[in-house]
Amino acid sequence: MLFSWLRHYALSRSYAQTCRLLNSYQQTSKNYANILGIETSCDDTGCAIINENGEVLAETLHSQNLIHLRNGGIIPDVAQDLHRKYIEPTVHETLEAAQLHWLDISAIAVTLEPGLPLSLAIGMKYAKHLSRQYKKPLIPIHHMEAHALVARMQNEISFPFLTLLISGGHCLLAVVQDVNKFQLLGESIDCAPGEVFDKVARRMKLRNIPEYSQLCGGRAVELAASKATNPHLFQLPLPLGDYKDCNFSFNGLKTSVMYQLYRKEKEHSIEADKLIPEANDLCAALLMTTSRHLVHRTQRAMEFCHRNKLIPGDKKQLVVSGGVACNNYIYNTLTELCYEFEYQIYRPQPKLCTDNGIMIAWNGLEKWQRNIDIVTNVNSLDIKSVSPLGESLISRVKEARLPTKLLKIKVKL
Ligand code: KG4
Ligand code: ZN
Repeated sequence: MLFSWLRHYALSRSYAQTCRLLNSYQQTSKNYANILGIETSCDDTGCAIINENGEVLAETLHSQNLIHLRNGGIIPDVAQDLHRKYIEPTVHETLEAAQLHWLDISAIAVTLEPGLPLSLAIGMKYAKHLSRQYKKPLIPIHHMEAHALVARMQNEISFPFLTLLISGGHCLLAVVQDVNKFQLLGESIDCAPGEVFDKVARRMKLRNIPEYSQLCGGRAVELAASKATNPHLFQLPLPLGDYKDCNFSFNGLKTSVMYQLYRKEKEHSIEADKLIPEANDLCAALLMTTSRHLVHRTQRAMEFCHRNKLIPGDKKQLVVSGGVACNNYIYNTLTELCYEFEYQIYRPQPKLCTDNGIMIAWNGLEKWQRNIDIVTNVNSLDIKSVSPLGESLISRVKEARLPTKLLKIKVKL
């Protein structure tokens, strides 16, 4: 009703007048909202529109995965060029698919931190351009917060909850107290699990197997591991086993896998394009050790939350998200941990675990409904390639020196 009247009004008034009127109506009525989200923090150009009920009206994702696979990894300049090429069509396609006009959009949520600076800059510049042109407020989004919060889109998860965020760039354990209140319990002191999977898959030449040729490294390692005939052939050391905190480390694990690979290549005199015969077993060892490490640190985080009353007994919820959360073995091992500690486990569906525009629009909606970070003077906004998640409790976790009795994982590959 309001919109048919507005369209009629729009014919008799200038477009800018109409935009201002609609925007001021939307600002006062938080019951109505269509939030457009833009994601360009790494190698996916994503856009989505979500309404006030959290329904996805449309989404578009342009993945650069195949190009980066061919290049042997993400080259930031290439990623930027592709974002520049696809950002406008991606946003237009989304609006068209939702059958909406800019008049119908309440605000634009955009990832500003953390991520590749060249990639983030494209999303920010385009969002600022849209904001100025159509007089829309911007809602700045922290990419990792969005990974965690998107789990609330399809599940009844109330604050506070524990979250484990595992991706190609991060490994984080945090308590989410509210939409904009995160308490960091642990983070990786070197690289991220997805990065290790990607590098190992490349070095192992998994791409040369047609079945894996179009898959990201993590998925290829998962599939190869599921075919292991001798999954205990390689024994890899558990990272940070003696450190009584919730931090992570994957560098040593990567080096151990690379060393075993090199050793086997020499032993079998492997030629350029060939894989070692034990590739599946080595992938299994990597996956199992990664899972044990993740479970170990999450177990201590649960213990810390319990002792410090960060999570009440009736809110024992764990959200696992980020691209690596697509991994079923990792998810199943964490499910086992949750069973032991009486936690409910949640993970977004796979397409919402990996980077996408929906999680940005959803985080935008959560902020919009609570009047958080709705920015009209967009000049002040800027990107941050490195950006910690919330308030750090890491030194408190270290001081607590909580012992944990390592849970024995019985999950089959
Ligand atoms: O969250 P995401 O899409 O991008 C970042 O923010 O980094 O995560 C991408 C990462 C990649 O490293 C990819 O190899 C990994 O997620 N990944 C997986 C699986 N699917 C994607 N890792 C393990 N198992 C999977 N099934
Ligand atoms: Zn991500």
